[in-house]
Amino acid sequence: MSHIVILGGGPAGYVAAIRARQLGAEVTLAEMDALGGTCTNRGCIPSKAMLRCAEVAREAREMDRFGVEVEFKSVNWTKVLQRKDQVVDQLRKGVEFLMKEHGIRVVHGKGRLVEPHVVEIETEGAKETVRGDSVLLAVGSTPAKLPLPGFDLPGVMNSDQILNIQRIPESIAIIGAGPIGVEFADVFNSVGSKVTIIELLPRLVPLEDEEISSELARSFRRRRIDTFLNAKVLGVVERDGKRVVQFEADGQTKEVAVEVVLSAVGRWPNTEGIGLPEAGIEMNRRAIRANARMETNVPGVYAAGDATGGILLAHVAFQEGKVAIANALGQSTEMDYRAIPSVTYTHPEIGSTGLSEAKAKESGIDVKVGRFYFRAAGRAIAEGHREGVAKIVVDAATNKVIGGHVIGPRATDLIHEVVLAVQMGLTAEDLGEMVHGHPTLSEPIKEATEDALGIAIHK
Ligand code: NAI
Repeated sequence: MSHIVILGGGPAGYVAAIRARQLGAEVTLAEMDALGGTCTNRGCIPSKAMLRCAEVAREAREMDRFGVEVEFKSVNWTKVLQRKDQVVDQLRKGVEFLMKEHGIRVVHGKGRLVEPHVVEIETEGAKETVRGDSVLLAVGSTPAKLPLPGFDLPGVMNSDQILNIQRIPESIAIIGAGPIGVEFADVFNSVGSKVTIIELLPRLVPLEDEEISSELARSFRRRRIDTFLNAKVLGVVERDGKRVVQFEADGQTKEVAVEVVLSAVGRWPNTEGIGLPEAGIEMNRRAIRANARMETNVPGVYAAGDATGGILLAHVAFQEGKVAIANALGQSTEMDYRAIPSVTYTHPEIGSTGLSEAKAKESGIDVKVGRFYFRAAGRAIAEGHREGVAKIVVDAATNKVIGGHVIGPRATDLIHEVVLAVQMGLTAEDLGEMVHGHPTLSEPIKEATEDALGIAIHK
């Protein structure tokens, strides 16, 4: 029986472990912290639990609009944190259960490569050496830290720390408007903090289609979230009991004085101190270099998830873990990154996949673009959603759907229809002719697709 040794029990590692057992291998998995990794313990899951509280708080204040008369008192942050911890606990236990159920040997300790196929795991006071036929490096990432003054001050937090902030800050400055930055902006704005975003690039969620960024900016403006774009942070100082973020914007040096600062400027792979250079593993700066089969340069050593520094998303890690294992166990498969969904859980939510209009044009593809606004969709109107748009990008030469960009209610769920279309090479006619339930939030996608063909019905 083949033996697979996995370093890391996050989305890449634990999914790979289960898949390896399904394919008949023996598995040893080393995890130095909690099973489930960043996603379950410090990322996707706890932030979604908080975002749900934020949503309920916002809706509670708007009940009157729906003819429901309740008096909004306050947000009990202690209960918000307790609920978040319960959610995390339940899911972590779920992963622990899955490991047991599948007969995966989990060793709690820090693993390190001592030879390409030999891992030493340091458990409490002891060391264990395991040899695998293949090794999967799925060691994840940690929040990046700006090398600027003041980032060690108390009250300057990263995304791990903010999840346990003990009370609602009266004011918060968020550095970075990627998914982490904008999701926490949403949370703290909803529970009553004064939020200021400071972003280096010219727009919010800079990796999304430009129209999506504009829609989010409009929504955040309406909610009185202050935003500084093209803003270069210089550092943080303490003054009069506050944290003062100093930055350059519009050719001037500016300051924002706040109670708390959240730094959300990306993540770094956890690749130090685990024997990678000694084992001859090629790196791409901090990340492990892996090909589309998730192979490193050393035969039998694979890497998956955030450690490879590609697209830092749990669902990408799931798939990379499975691809690595399939290849380690004699199958032959590759990652396909054409239709990865990107999902950001602000209100309105963002879901996108495939090429943006700008990226398609950059690649020399002539495109047709269709749009449909949620404020014209029956279900959205009935539910009181006033924001959002679905945008579909179609290759003009083939009529194939090559991208979708949705900002609006349930966009993170809705986008999967477009993921399927892009993945399967469906045309705009295929998607437009597909009968969509009425009234549903999915109709803007259908209408946007038909709009790209110039035949939208309700526009
Ligand atoms: P990110 O790299 O997506 O965004 C960081 C932002 O910070 C960028 O827009 C960048 O321009 C800005 N920035 C960098 N240095 C700066 C500076 N000195 N001053 C001002 N702005 C600066 O990283 P983020 O948001 O921290 O997320 C980390 C990873 O986790 C990402 O890859 C993200 O995709 C993933 N993630 C995904 C979520 C989701 O899909 N819902 C939620 C949270 C994280």
